[in-house]
Amino acid sequence: MKTEVVIIGGGPSGLLLSQLLNRAGVDTVILERTSRARVLARIRAGVLEDGTVNLLREAGVGDRMDREGQPHEGCYLTDDDLMVRINFYELTGKKVMVYGQTEVTADLYDAQDAIGTTIVHEVEGVVIQDAATTAPYVEYTKDGVLHRVDCRFVAGCDGFHGVSRQTIPAEKRDEFERVYPFGWLGVLSRTPPANHELIYANSRHGFALASMRNENLCRYYVQVPLTDKVEEWSDDRFWEALKMRLPHETAQNMITGPSIEKSIAPLRSFVSEPLRWGSLFLVGDSAHIVPPTGAKGLNLAVSDVYYLHDALIAALKKNNMSGVESYADRALARIWKAMRFSWQMTTMLHQFDGEDSFAAQMRKATLSHLSQSETARRDLAENYIGLPF
Ligand code: APR
Ligand code: PHB
Repeated sequence: MKTEVVIIGGGPSGLLLSQLLNRAGVDTVILERTSRARVLARIRAGVLEDGTVNLLREAGVGDRMDREGQPHEGCYLTDDDLMVRINFYELTGKKVMVYGQTEVTADLYDAQDAIGTTIVHEVEGVVIQDAATTAPYVEYTKDGVLHRVDCRFVAGCDGFHGVSRQTIPAEKRDEFERVYPFGWLGVLSRTPPANHELIYANSRHGFALASMRNENLCRYYVQVPLTDKVEEWSDDRFWEALKMRLPHETAQNMITGPSIEKSIAPLRSFVSEPLRWGSLFLVGDSAHIVPPTGAKGLNLAVSDVYYLHDALIAALKKNNMSGVESYADRALARIWKAMRFSWQMTTMLHQFDGEDSFAAQMRKATLSHLSQSETARRDLAENYIGLPF
């Protein structure tokens, strides 16, 4: 096979990049390790920044999002019974869209099917060859048969555990990492939301988040020790822990029900540099991971895609390599700011094992300051709705 851009990974990064390239007349092949059903079974965050919403519309995949998504003008940060509303719309003129990543991914698959893009699922043993040259190729095995795709560029959209990042020689890579000493236990339930907007809750019992997918589907999280197992958390125990952490009135009025999904995810901040190695580019989770506090994971992948699609179209259609040359710097400048925001939100809202009594007072003071200072709220709002691309 031969194509212009081989995209490794059929998650949201790979699919959106392919969609934008195809619409500009660039030919792509997507190689994905698992089945489509398994990609679509992943439950991830559900908050889209303003810039993400616009790029999805531009890519021709905004219709269902605009019909079924919920624009939110604000969210709450709480500290026991203190509720601080961050009014994004008033502070920045922008909103976010509550629409699950799973739905975004499904819409992208539908759009790619309509274009007729080659998406090869259940590939094994992907190897990127000659990445440092201008004639790279990718090898993979499918049903026991070895295949080869020649191309001009390779986009590494294969997530944290993919092969793309590892293709860059270890001695040329710098990795920056912070692992947090707790995880998020998440529950999905067919119940109406506890509140009309998201609540990020600090409390003396630890962090909790009340989020949603629609009027009858909720996503809740509580901070748990990394040593906890899902089996140790019955639904009853979960609801009880959640209610202790949310403001009293919200907890009293909330409707609970059986969980339809329950899982524990660790929290990590991670960046690998460089993002480019000759003709190979890292995009999304393959290059960086953020803790979910602030919902930046997908949004950050989308801004990478924005910079890269522009760069590749200019290179392939106009023989202009300037975007290719500047991709890493442009993307990283934004990545580090989102890293800072996610880290700050995480630090501001979670209890750390073995922390001193001073730490809890700092969290309280931060929330109290947010409740009194419009400047502080504007800073948070500006980051939450997403820094410009
Ligand atoms: N070969 C082919 N495909 C691979 C390989 C491989 N060696 N390794 C991983 N993949 C596939 C995975 O199966 C997955 O479908 O790459 C895809 C990567 O998708 P994601 O992990 O979802 O990463 P990305 O597309 O960058 O999405 C950004 O935003 O909310 C965050 O972390 C969240 O998934 C999210 C991300
Ligand atoms: C979610 O709805 O799953 C969600 C929302 C906001 C976050 C993280 C996760 O910050």
